[in-house]
Amino acid sequence: MVVRIEPSILSADFTAFAADIARIPSADLVHCDVMDNHFVPNLTFGLPTVQRLAQVSALPLDVHLMIDDPDRWAPGYAEAGAHTVTFHAEAAASPIATARAIRAAGARAGIAIKPSTDVSPYLTTIGEYDQILVMTVEPGFGGQSFMADLMDKVRGVRAAIGDRDVWLQVDGGIGPDTIATAAAAGADTFVAGSAVFGQEDPDAAIQHLRELATT
Ligand code: DX5
Ligand code: ZN
Repeated sequence: MVVRIEPSILSADFTAFAADIARIPSADLVHCDVMDNHFVPNLTFGLPTVQRLAQVSALPLDVHLMIDDPDRWAPGYAEAGAHTVTFHAEAAASPIATARAIRAAGARAGIAIKPSTDVSPYLTTIGEYDQILVMTVEPGFGGQSFMADLMDKVRGVRAAIGDRDVWLQVDGGIGPDTIATAAAAGADTFVAGSAVFGQEDPDAAIQHLRELATT
């Protein structure tokens, strides 16, 4: 199975994103956590930063919107040049319409599910999405512990995907001790913040994570 490693710049230097992205050439995409202090109790950056990142990054951007009213804002991130725009099911009034608007603006559309949210309503319309993000921590902060009890949910999503080109992403607490567990449950796209940018050699950390997810 294809394995994608996506370092999260939530754990990078907020005054040196371009330099930190240049340190991770082995990454598949760069994960950009947009937080609005409403949907989650933390504030990061928004559209102007993502627009500029799209210009300077040699790697495609995977934007994870932890914001209220993604129906209004998500298509703008696709227009900014993101490869994938993922919004939270809990925040969206019309998830299918929003996913279609993201695709119409030229990006892949993802839907994210918090640990306590039932994923099954979204699996019946799985063809509307290009990525399902199963959060393995409560969204909002890096450096939290991986919730292994969510692997049943990951297995259920994997079964629903079948042979469709839908990426199954996990985000939160992914590192050398947990990535194989998530891979065995069926995840193929792994976000890692502190386990990459918290290391002295972030690119070597990516290569190590890739090996652990593949074996
Ligand atoms: C958390 C964010 C994650 C975060 C992961 O709400 O969505 O992307 O950066 O950080 P780690 O890998 O340190 O758990
Ligand atoms: Zn994230």
